[in-house]
Amino acid sequence: MPKYRIALLPGDGIGNDVMEAARIVLDRIDLDAEYVDGDIGWEFWKKEGDPLPPRTIRLLKQTRCCLFGAITSKPKEEAAKELAPELQNKAHSYYSPIVRLRQEFNLRTNLRPCKAYSGNPLNYQDDIDIVVFRENTECLYAGVEFYPLPKELKEILLKLHPAMKRFAPIPEKDTALSCRIITKGASRAIVRDAFEYAKTYDYPHVTVVEKPNVIRETSGLFIREAREVAKDYPSIELREVNIDAACMWLLKNPLDFGVLATSNLFGDILSDLCAQLVGGLGFASSGNIGDRYAVFEPTHGSAPKYAGQHKVNPIAMILSAKLMLDWLGEKEKAAAVEKAVAKVINNGKVRTYDMGGSSSTTEVARAVAEAL
Ligand code: IPM
Ligand code: MG
Repeated sequence: MPKYRIALLPGDGIGNDVMEAARIVLDRIDLDAEYVDGDIGWEFWKKEGDPLPPRTIRLLKQTRCCLFGAITSKPKEEAAKELAPELQNKAHSYYSPIVRLRQEFNLRTNLRPCKAYSGNPLNYQDDIDIVVFRENTECLYAGVEFYPLPKELKEILLKLHPAMKRFAPIPEKDTALSCRIITKGASRAIVRDAFEYAKTYDYPHVTVVEKPNVIRETSGLFIREAREVAKDYPSIELREVNIDAACMWLLKNPLDFGVLATSNLFGDILSDLCAQLVGGLGFASSGNIGDRYAVFEPTHGSAPKYAGQHKVNPIAMILSAKLMLDWLGEKEKAAAVEKAVAKVINNGKVRTYDMGGSSSTTEVARAVAEAL
């Protein structure tokens, strides 16, 4: 029996193109693994009213970890319009399958390295080496949202909080509410992961990015927990920067940053910004990591307009497979894949369109495989 059983969920659009590319690289390194394909994505939403069918959840539970491509997601109303006629008006509500996976499997840590590989013409600056630790299960992604605002809830809020008074005259049908839920445990866990990473890879500081001057309770709690965790790492400096300032400083002085730790939505935004510093989403890999399971995926979306054209950059996906190898403990294979990617980037002969080249997704994957 192979050592690992790994689920492959290509998903939508270019998810398929980049998954094929990842397979070319994985097949080259002789990982002792069996790969099983699973259904996820827009097609299953339209046909079955569920983009993440229960059979896929069952399949994942029988695997060690998962490599995921990309998914198309649309706002609720638009999604509902695309359902098969027999499913219309049957209380199916679209909810992002990747967000569901993160929550159902408690994949609490979203790890997003953004590294400037030398020779990449798209680097904003050489030597950028930023790793975003994004809390992956709570915050505004918790899914606790209301529209219209239920009357009972409004009454309770009016009773409990003076700031609610301003909204008292506004009709419930004109008010929506999304809850930003932040807990001590999850905040501590993400900050601890960030510090552990800084310790292992010798980063001198961890920058916690929040907005406690305005979002006093949720960001306040996050920062207080971060300070507690930081006490266990006296040789690593804790820095605190507000989200708005962090965006500005990241663009101005990206080399001042290393490990970042933040909550879910800020992490979503920051990780796109950091990805752009090192060439864009074509280079941004990520791992959704829990205590027992993990899902690895490129940060980019499904880019429907390029689907099936084998045009997009597979490096984000290949580097996601590298993160998977790291997580599996296959450190040497992981390092070899990263070295091969770095070599192909630096060599400059095989490049997809985003890097000014004309090579296909598959050609880049083959070049990486050869460099291995
Ligand atoms: C990401 C994506 C997802 C998110 C979307 C597709 C739901 O933007 O992984 O960053 O918002 O987390
Ligand atoms: Mg995002």
